Amino acid sequence: MLINKNKFDVDKIDITSEENYINRRKILKLFGISTAIAIAPNALKANEKYSLKTITPENKAKSYNNFYEFGLDKSDPYKNAHTLKTRPWEIKITGEVAKEITLSIDDILRDIPIIQRAYRFRCVEAWSMNIPWNGFELNKLLNKVKIKGNAKFVQFKTKYAPDEMIGQRNSYIGGFIKYPYIEGLRIDEAMHPLTLIATGMYGKDLPNQNGAPLRLIVPWKYGFKSIKSIVEIKLVEKMPTSTWMQLQSEEYGFYANVNPNVSHPRWSQREERFIGGGFFNFKKVPTLMFNGYENEVASMYSRMDLVKNF
Ligand code: MTE
Repeated sequence: MLINKNKFDVDKIDITSEENYINRRKILKLFGISTAIAIAPNALKANEKYSLKTITPENKAKSYNNFYEFGLDKSDPYKNAHTLKTRPWEIKITGEVAKEITLSIDDILRDIPIIQRAYRFRCVEAWSMNIPWNGFELNKLLNKVKIKGNAKFVQFKTKYAPDEMIGQRNSYIGGFIKYPYIEGLRIDEAMHPLTLIATGMYGKDLPNQNGAPLRLIVPWKYGFKSIKSIVEIKLVEKMPTSTWMQLQSEEYGFYANVNPNVSHPRWSQREERFIGGGFFNFKKVPTLMFNGYENEVASMYSRMDLVKNF
């Protein structure tokens, strides 16, 4: 697809102007690409202040990963994730809803138009990437159910399949983590237009190691919130726990908003190593409040103490 020809070149990927957005659609049409791949204007706004010059090379985004179900080293998911079966795949929406539903990934892909957005991705370990995702806003999926008034949070669950995920059956490989991996969001965060369910990246289907066939992307939060290979979304009344809260709640909080002013107990969050092109390209850049999406999301936290609610 077109985007892969230009994947290292942001100017050519055209993420900076409405005019380019329209041109891109024309070009995609010319190439006969049928899915409605578009770059949403609100994502452009969020990214503008970065003056993104570099998209992280695809080969780095798919070989430098955290997916502990396949091992603890950054290179393990790339080597081990081929054993994950991503078809057939079902996702349930359960809990505080009028009627629980189960959808297949193929139904979802047929039904919800796919858009493309380039987002900054900032890991709590202080490295970052810029990745063009394909997917849809999570609210499109949640709107398929009638959410009850008492639902205040959303809990997500990764597939549990020890025979497909080596780290789930072997604690030495998968760390002493209680699987399945779980995560959560407040309901307004889940419904926010920047919150995506990614089904692809760089114009292709998601590689298994990046969370196929569908994973969460919350660009203003640390990467561990972006849970992979989701099988269940549950609407709940009380703040749910998460894998990282279960492991070390004093280091990893529920909110996990990117914040250069709140250090991790063991390192500063003021800077990050941006993973761009070239062999030694780990460029140090300042970390921005809410990962640069402050205008879009800060109002959700205006009455919250961001030091206490880290
Ligand atoms: N989801 C599951 N199920 N298991 C994991 O180990 N790791 C998280 C998140 N989602 C993880 C997960 C962490 S710590 C990060 S930084 C991102 O995935 C990494 O995403 P990437 O490998 O696509 O860059």
